[in-house]
Amino acid sequence: MEKIVILTGAGISAESGLGTFRGAGGLWENHRVEDVATPEAFARDPKLVTTFYNQRRAGAATARPNAAHAALATLQRDYDGEVIIVTQNVDGLHEAAGAEVLHMHGQLDQALCAACGHQWPAPMEMQVGEVCPSCGGGFGRPDIVWFGEMPYHMDEIFEHLVTCGLFAAIGTSGQVYPAAGFVREADAAGAHTIELNLDPSSVVSQFAETRFGPATQTVPDWVKGLLG
Ligand code: APR
Repeated sequence: MEKIVILTGAGISAESGLGTFRGAGGLWENHRVEDVATPEAFARDPKLVTTFYNQRRAGAATARPNAAHAALATLQRDYDGEVIIVTQNVDGLHEAAGAEVLHMHGQLDQALCAACGHQWPAPMEMQVGEVCPSCGGGFGRPDIVWFGEMPYHMDEIFEHLVTCGLFAAIGTSGQVYPAAGFVREADAAGAHTIELNLDPSSVVSQFAETRFGPATQTVPDWVKGLLG
């Protein structure tokens, strides 16, 4: 069976109680990106940034996967072909549902040494100057890909995009690149493309098919159709 590539965003975790970024009451309504999500912000005020991600880590730790996460895990297990899930999310809800995913924007439960690049499981409460267990330097930071930084796994992701037969985007606003450009890559390679979202994204016109509604309704129905 043809390979399926699925991109997920904050919308798939919204019904698990984790806020999105740009919706009403979203994270970027209460925090300026320039203050908490750039390497410059971390250099300028590491306490503010460390606290922001400690709060998000605590929130994600109590959240539970929902029916949309579960449906994708089922698809990955039961589909008679490859199902590659690429997420922009930094929570661990896909894995908690039993799926394997590529975290292109990093993970809340991981720390990164800004000096040697070592990655290790993040304590729930990271400290400013968190000590790296590999080089011993105090340059630990949240392992989150900030604006202006290169996302993870890009070569592997592009390889999958140009060799898949079906590309789906779930719960993402299509406002942040390179993720928002994936549909164009997959479409150009001949894949069928579908957007599943609460409302139309900024790149909705580039999709061959759309389904609107809460992910916990649209995703299980879509997966049921694929598994027949
Ligand atoms: N079901 C389906 N979709 C939903 C739901 C839901 N219950 N709730 C919200 N959505 C949709 C919204 O309509 C919106 O289009 O999810 C999308 C969330 O968009 P954003 O908040 O912009 O989140 P996302 O697209 O994941 O952001 C991309 O931007 O801030 C950076 O690095 C951060 O990974 C993030 C990236």
